[in-house]
Amino acid sequence: MKILVTGGTGYIGSHTCVELINAGHEVVIVDNLYNSSIDVLDKIETITGVKPAFYKVDVLDRDNLENVFKENSFDAVINFAGYKAVGESVSIPLTYYKNNVSGAINLYELMKKYQVKNLVFSSSATVYGDDFEVPFKEEYGLGTTTNPYGTSKKFNEIIITDLCKAEEWMSAIILRYFNPIGAHKSGLIGETPNGIPNNLLPYIAQVANGERDYLRVWGDDYDTPDGTGVRDYIHVVDLARAHVLAIEYAEKNKGVDVINVGSGKGYSVMEVLHAYEKACGHEIPYKIMDRRPGDIAVCYADTKKAKELLDFETAYDIEDMCEDSFRYYNK
Ligand code: NAD
Ligand code: UD1
Repeated sequence: MKILVTGGTGYIGSHTCVELINAGHEVVIVDNLYNSSIDVLDKIETITGVKPAFYKVDVLDRDNLENVFKENSFDAVINFAGYKAVGESVSIPLTYYKNNVSGAINLYELMKKYQVKNLVFSSSATVYGDDFEVPFKEEYGLGTTTNPYGTSKKFNEIIITDLCKAEEWMSAIILRYFNPIGAHKSGLIGETPNGIPNNLLPYIAQVANGERDYLRVWGDDYDTPDGTGVRDYIHVVDLARAHVLAIEYAEKNKGVDVINVGSGKGYSVMEVLHAYEKACGHEIPYKIMDRRPGDIAVCYADTKKAKELLDFETAYDIEDMCEDSFRYYNK
């Protein structure tokens, strides 16, 4: 298939492009490079032997985005383009809604106009909110989101579902990611956070290599085995493979399916910290702090639907995730 990947030079997008190319698909990337670098294209080429076609276009720029559709005949779109910083989204909600929702609407309008049938969308486990019991199941639907980032994902899910109801020829898979971490085995592509990392893995990595003094563990009084928060971490290469299976499934089916992409296992903050210590070969200092507002105690996926529909299973465990993350951050 010829696939338009928006946000394709970003963290998850770049790993997905590698897996799509390895599976024999043709990839065209659209990215405004707001949170990624053009060098990623060479790195994808080094890994796969193929340099994807690239357009430096903002999805909010409807005319230039349309030119990409005029110049190419796509079979499918994978939509990664968007902003993702939860805290920032609370301070500048309109910026988040404009980019993540208006940008997406531009894209979906062009898919309709140019009759591009298949869509895969990057949603998040954050759409479950704190309303349901673990493991989170797709059939629970949408919970109460607590920040504009999460709400922008929820809006996208609703828009895509309504679009596919109205346009019966269209097919969409909404992937609800749990916590993607790790990096490609080559150490060439990975996640490079801007500023002080909010997420656990990039923060641990910066403490491990001496850029920061200690990890702040947000609470050890949750109702979990060691009191720290439990999450479902998934290796980014496993997550990328799920996109290949999803786009191939969309091609063969109509309508919308929502699918969790996680490992189905929960790890606590302390378990991740110890796995990273093993990977880097030394102790990582930490201090127990108060709980972070908005955090939930435990979050992990029910993975049955991903297995049934996509035959998807994860291949990598927490040790691989930490080793690969360590290799990337130290390259
Ligand atoms: P990322 O920031 O690394 O990648 C997003 C890419 O989109 C970047 O390259 C950025 O430059 C580009 N982009 C942003 N706005 C754009 C615009 N208007 N036009 C064109 N390009 C634009 O983020 P990521 O971690 O790879 O996440 C990819 C997607 O997955 C995002 O939609 C994110 O919300 C979603 N997601 C990520 C996580 C996670 O933990 N990383 C979890 C759940 C969902
Ligand atoms: C966060 C986002 C979520 C997003 C996900 C993946 C919030 C409230 N939620 O989820 O919307 O989809 O990232 O990008 O921000 N922790 C520490 N110290 C740190 C950082 C994290 O102890 O410095 C703990 C957290 O309390 C949590 C776990 O580590 O228990 C994972 O945190 P994080 O990586 O930020 O992911 P989530 O909170 O699951």
